[in-house]
Amino acid sequence: MSAGASIAIVGGGIIGLSTAWRLAQRGFAVTVFEQSTMGGEASWAGAGMLAPGGEMDEASELTTLAIESRRLYPAYVRELVASSGLSIDFQEMGAVDLAYSAEEMSTLEDRAARQAGIGIESKAVDPKRVAVFWPRVRTEGLVGGRFYPGDGLVNPREVVVALCAVCKKLGVRLVQNCGVRSVADSGGSVKLVTAHGTETARCVMIAAGAWSGSIVVSPVGIPASAPVKGHLVGYQQPSQTCNTIVRHGHTYLMQRNSGLLIVGASVEHVGFDRRVDAGVASQLSEAAGFVMPHLLETTPTEMWVGFRPGSDGLHLGRWESGNVYLAYGHYRNGILLAPVTADRVAAEISLDVGVR
Ligand code: GLY
Repeated sequence: MSAGASIAIVGGGIIGLSTAWRLAQRGFAVTVFEQSTMGGEASWAGAGMLAPGGEMDEASELTTLAIESRRLYPAYVRELVASSGLSIDFQEMGAVDLAYSAEEMSTLEDRAARQAGIGIESKAVDPKRVAVFWPRVRTEGLVGGRFYPGDGLVNPREVVVALCAVCKKLGVRLVQNCGVRSVADSGGSVKLVTAHGTETARCVMIAAGAWSGSIVVSPVGIPASAPVKGHLVGYQQPSQTCNTIVRHGHTYLMQRNSGLLIVGASVEHVGFDRRVDAGVASQLSEAAGFVMPHLLETTPTEMWVGFRPGSDGLHLGRWESGNVYLAYGHYRNGILLAPVTADRVAAEISLDVGVR
């Protein structure tokens, strides 16, 4: 158990747990409060795409962070695997974007040109070679594509299990089923009112994803957050059915080592509605079947929903009220941005609070 200053983290998803791990490594005494189970929300639902190529096409702070976090991922996973003794499905296999019309092709090429300027590499794919490298992909009507060698995937559920293990080893207190209602910053410390009583800490980091904005923070309130619901469907398939990420328009397909081929994802502004809508799921299945026709004859084995952490942007680092730190608003890229978020916020807290 650490003797360092106490840090409270609100939210036990991949962002909160990664930061807890980094802070514990620096000698802080960390407690993570999670309203449900560790990693049970967006980190459980997320497909786990590590894909600046599919998500970023303009210079911004978010893009810089995404590229940096993608660079950090191999070492982050290696360290987690070595420290936890657990395995993590992490695949650096790239992604292909497909175009089935001249218009789609020109959209891909314009985007690739913008991406080249910000350091995201891609190369043209000859449609004749698609059948060789992606034998399950529809070739009828295929005009071309772009291959993104830097994109990859991770299974975020396995990352969370490993994070819990390494956090426990370092003495992090993981408190499940204990939401935090309010945080009051009194200058030298913070007081948290949780579902199970009051706690104090030297400072607090709020990483509660879509729920972050519902925590009452004083004396300075924090930015709002909102859930952006996504449906996903999964098909149990023979390995190598989808040997890289495959994208067409807003649809992506990717396959975990377990064989689960995941298709995502809808983007819905409907609040915390946990219902799986068969209509939305069947639109995803149709989109998947367009790209891989054999899926039209295949019944999904799983359908689920998750809540992306939406906000008016990414909130990262020290908040106006001095002992409150924020790490939310990661929206579509929370899994990708976990390593860089954890490193940056842990470094900032160390600098401010003074442990190592
Ligand atoms: N990261 C992909 C999505 O949010 O659907």
